[in-house]
Amino acid sequence: MSIQRIAVIGSGTMGRGIAYTAALAGFEVMLQDISSDVLEKAKQYMEKEMAKSAERGFITDGQREEALQYLSYTTDIPDAAKNADLVIEAVVEVMEVKIEVFKLLDMHAPEHTILATNTSTMSPTEIAASTVRPDKCIAMHFFNPVHKMKLVELIRGLDTSDATVETVKQVAEKMGKETVEVNEFPGFVTSRMNCLIGNEAMNMLMGGVASAQDIDKALKLGLNHPMGPLELADLVGLDSRLRNMEYLYRHLGEKYRPSPILVKYVKAGRLGRKSGRGFYEYIDR
Ligand code: NAI
Repeated sequence: MSIQRIAVIGSGTMGRGIAYTAALAGFEVMLQDISSDVLEKAKQYMEKEMAKSAERGFITDGQREEALQYLSYTTDIPDAAKNADLVIEAVVEVMEVKIEVFKLLDMHAPEHTILATNTSTMSPTEIAASTVRPDKCIAMHFFNPVHKMKLVELIRGLDTSDATVETVKQVAEKMGKETVEVNEFPGFVTSRMNCLIGNEAMNMLMGGVASAQDIDKALKLGLNHPMGPLELADLVGLDSRLRNMEYLYRHLGEKYRPSPILVKYVKAGRLGRKSGRGFYEYIDR
């Protein structure tokens, strides 16, 4: 099936990144969020980031203008779903919220529309079970920042059809991404691994093994990680990371118990880059 119009549901860190990359790849994109403030920020993000990319020569002025014209915004899920060929959901990592969103999408999207979730950890089968089109549901797991990260993990639910997998694979490739196919299991490949490394780093920090800077430096220079686990957690958002850990802890057990320092930081509102402070402080957000 040929995909032209994409709806992105949830316009936070990931939703706006997915929309940005999809618009530059030539898709018509409608961005949705329940919060009009978030939508306004997403719009400003598009304009600022596209201008930066044009200034640096990554895209031409023509591409920037075209991509901005491909983007539209709404607070209404039915409005976003009604003309979409593909919906990519990027709302908070809470199963009940995702299920509510998928029920609405299923009700309002055309019959041919594929419904994808950008969940980091959760079961696409469970999410798909809230619809009457489980064959057209799948997880498309993008990475942050979306325009820079090469991978999209594709996770089939129990009833996901081969045609759905093939179509979203082509969409990801048109967005300049490579894909891996992963069988459904909590945390897939990447989140399961990344959460453990991050959690261990947080426990080391809490135990006084080394400073945040030195833990990150050790992994970057000693183990060749492109980013340290603590700076990466700040980029992901500590609230999002905590939800991922809690889900993995519930489904995979003790090894995934969230580090107490992560829990404490989230309680304090230290959410990483998006709030200006996490394991590090950020002046220019
Ligand atoms: P975020 O908190 O930045 O954004 C979530 C957005 O969803 C918020 O703007 C919120 O207003 C909106 N929202 C909440 N309920 C909604 C509803 N019922 N309808 C429409 N919008 C609603 O979260 P983030 O980090 O963008 O995560 C979104 C999803 O992407 C989660 O499932 C997360 O696990 C996943 N993810 C996150 C990554 C990251 O690095 N932050 C990486 C890969 C996946």
